[in-house]
Amino acid sequence: MRCIIEPREMQVWSTQKRCQGKTLALVPTMGYFHEGHLALMRWAREHCDVLMVSLFVNPTQFAPHEDLKAYPRDLPRDAELAREQGVDVLFTPTPESMFSKDHAAWVEAPSLCRGLCAVQRPTHFRGVATVVAKLFLLTSPTLAVFGEKDWQQLAVIRTMARDLNMPVEIIGRPIVREADGLAMSSRNIYLSPEERAQAPFIHQGLQQIRGLTEQGETDANILLAALGEMYQRTMPLAAVEYMSLVDPEQLFPLEEIQGPALLAVAVRFKTARLIDNILIPVEERL
Ligand code: PAF
Repeated sequence: MRCIIEPREMQVWSTQKRCQGKTLALVPTMGYFHEGHLALMRWAREHCDVLMVSLFVNPTQFAPHEDLKAYPRDLPRDAELAREQGVDVLFTPTPESMFSKDHAAWVEAPSLCRGLCAVQRPTHFRGVATVVAKLFLLTSPTLAVFGEKDWQQLAVIRTMARDLNMPVEIIGRPIVREADGLAMSSRNIYLSPEERAQAPFIHQGLQQIRGLTEQGETDANILLAALGEMYQRTMPLAAVEYMSLVDPEQLFPLEEIQGPALLAVAVRFKTARLIDNILIPVEERL
């Protein structure tokens, strides 16, 4: 496995591979790999000639009060795990090489950033879209693979790639969960044992609400009230940041579910903010 730090070297390397007619996959990450990241790498490994993984804790997607400094990092361990997945290039640029002090060009998709995580994190998706655009320009991927846990991020990236004619296929892959249903996240390590014991109820609540839709309930207010009640009962250590039923592509809120719907939540424990979601496909309802 080759490790590349310099953006220019990454760009030259990937351009050469593209010119040789190879297909290139990129898995963009912020590191501290868990099974969710490794599953993305395995999928990408099977679908392209060349597998690139970027590991960059992107400062522009953190607000000043957020956990940029504390974000978990372990490059030697990550490098070893990447090697085991058959990664060809691990790209680990420095913040200074990615964002100059007077960085001024940003990528935004405002219509997808009116609700969900963007309410509490208003500059987050601008930072994500901009760094992903830069990573695409540096790695020339044929396809790029993202997890569906960050559904809004995936929607923003898909829209960015479509609207800016980026020659890359965006692949979303299913959420990988712990045995008890908690969605895997690098931030799960922040949870105290008591919080960790309550956190699986995030997913159980989503499943329960999907169950109600399968029995024919379509009123968003009723569904969200039932979810709020369940979360209050099962997760006293958590504060719900949002619970939303939205259109899975455009992310606008739904009052009544008549087609496919996404139920998305963010929950705050003392030191960790966790997100999760569940798709409610149309055919599962009566
Ligand atoms: O999902 C993440 O890990 C990050 O938001 C991403 C896509 C690597 C951009 O920094």
